[in-house]
Amino acid sequence: MCGIIGFTGNIPVQDILLDGLQRLEYRGYDSAGIAYFKEEQHISLRKTAGKVADLRAICDDNNSSVCGIGHTRWATHGGVSNVNAHPHRVGKVALIHNGIIENYHELIEKFHLGGKLKSETDTEVAAAVFEALYDGDPEEAIRRGVKLFKGSFAFCILFADHPGEVYAIRNVSPMVAAHCEEGSFIASDLTAFISYSNRYFIVPEYHLLKMTPDGITMASLEGETAEPEYLEVDWDVTAAQKEGYAHFMLKEINEQPEAISRTIVPRLANGLPDFTEDGIDDSFFEDCSDITIVACGTAMHAGLVGKSLLQNMFQIPVTVAIASEFRYEAPVIGEKSMVIVVSQSGETIDTLEALKLANRYTKKTLAVVNVKGSSIARESNYVLYTHAGPEIAVASTKAYTVQVATFFLLAVKLGLVTGKMTEKDARAFVDNLQRVPDVIRQILLTADDIEELTQRMTNAQNTFFIGRGLDYSLAMEGALKLKEISYIHAEAYAAGELKHGTIALISEGVPVISIANQSHVYSKVISNIREVKARGAYVILLSRDEKISDPSICDVQLRIPDLPDAFTVFPSVVILQFIAYFAAVGKGFNPDQPRNLAKSVTVE
Ligand code: G6P
Repeated sequence: MCGIIGFTGNIPVQDILLDGLQRLEYRGYDSAGIAYFKEEQHISLRKTAGKVADLRAICDDNNSSVCGIGHTRWATHGGVSNVNAHPHRVGKVALIHNGIIENYHELIEKFHLGGKLKSETDTEVAAAVFEALYDGDPEEAIRRGVKLFKGSFAFCILFADHPGEVYAIRNVSPMVAAHCEEGSFIASDLTAFISYSNRYFIVPEYHLLKMTPDGITMASLEGETAEPEYLEVDWDVTAAQKEGYAHFMLKEINEQPEAISRTIVPRLANGLPDFTEDGIDDSFFEDCSDITIVACGTAMHAGLVGKSLLQNMFQIPVTVAIASEFRYEAPVIGEKSMVIVVSQSGETIDTLEALKLANRYTKKTLAVVNVKGSSIARESNYVLYTHAGPEIAVASTKAYTVQVATFFLLAVKLGLVTGKMTEKDARAFVDNLQRVPDVIRQILLTADDIEELTQRMTNAQNTFFIGRGLDYSLAMEGALKLKEISYIHAEAYAAGELKHGTIALISEGVPVISIANQSHVYSKVISNIREVKARGAYVILLSRDEKISDPSICDVQLRIPDLPDAFTVFPSVVILQFIAYFAAVGKGFNPDQPRNLAKSVTVE
């Protein structure tokens, strides 16, 4: 949440900040701003409500400054306005912030700031506190300041009488940094400066960074020097660009076959899953009494697929918990319980805190995470990285399918280690998994047909997604995708549950997206579809049937390739992603930046 970037070096800063903010915009996009040293001892600000493009329009074309900071905001304290946009400047201090200073009211009183602040933000309070504590030594002021703050923060700070220097410190909220030929960079995540460096380090919590064009020094609050631990990624700037696609979401939907291959193929040895390279040996899967999967949003929906798979294949108890609930409940976890946390960003605060809680009860914590070195990856005892590459669109697509693919691999491993799956069955299962990228490619080729056949969705007010078993988990993801980017009200229902109330909402022409790919409940779902059809629903059916025996049960059929039941989740979800995408675009919305949302949710 909120994107931040800072740079000091030997090339002009303005484009670095604006281009970086553009790439960070998925973290928040209600206002944006930059601060930079204009001349000795003077910091200039440009900021505005609106998107980075609006900020660019008010920036100086002839800005030769080589040191500055930039911010794109997702509002928490204070509405969306020019004055609430970051950076905030108080006296000699200008700063940007991601996070929430929870005790800002107390600080207003303690530092007698009442009536002196221009904005409604907790961030301006932090700037005022640093200014009050500043007597010429930036590091001292920051050390004293952060000891007073309660909450999460990532700050980049300029001091007017220290031109060419950027200071930074964080607690919880993520920040990465790097020094390279052009100078020193810092940002919420690597996408902001990947065009300059694919090497970076995670800024450790409560470590103070001083960045100059020549390098970055880092020390703990007690003044102990620390060395950065550099990581490297194998993707480049093109992975964070649209590359000719109309939207990042469309690009990411299309990247799914490769993302799945990258995630599964390196983990196969001799046709069977092998996590040795990930540092996970078979003993991790032995003696496991139960599994709890914890995540938020789409990652939680991937967990629901994982649950259906693991529980049904092996009769092992599996619970899926929403991280924001789990972290405040008394967990039912023992030493033999496995806890799997799932997160694309690896920074979702609720998932991170849930993991910390789980770590107190069991050593068997496993994170399925996309971002290397992220907080969740570091906090977990074991990690399986998904290799989706950077996901920029707020609505998650490729990250979901690689998470689901990871559960398929985990299922086979668990089955083999516990003796509940024969090697022959395991090989057959893996063979089917390896077919998935090609199956998705077939679906991608039908995008235009899906757009045409589901045009009706664009004008819908209310929609329903129904299915049973694994298809119900998918229905939930399909409904979430549709509402988050097209703002069409969508509800997911277990098909058999509909008649216990919700069927009252079905009236003439209401679209019901029905998924019918689980053989053991196929006839049951078809009966449920008949029930809604009889009440006037407009049924869009996702099924493997070559030809529906009774065409009167659906208005549109979208065919799923012929695969064993479990594997149909992959082509089905791609169709659901397209339905949401085309509905959003059809309504004239930008699916990459849905209103009120941000991709990486680092506040509670
Ligand atoms: C936000 C995003 C969702 C995402 C969820 C969890 O709500 O908009 O797309 O599924 O956070 O994020 P994570 O990074 O933990 O997977």
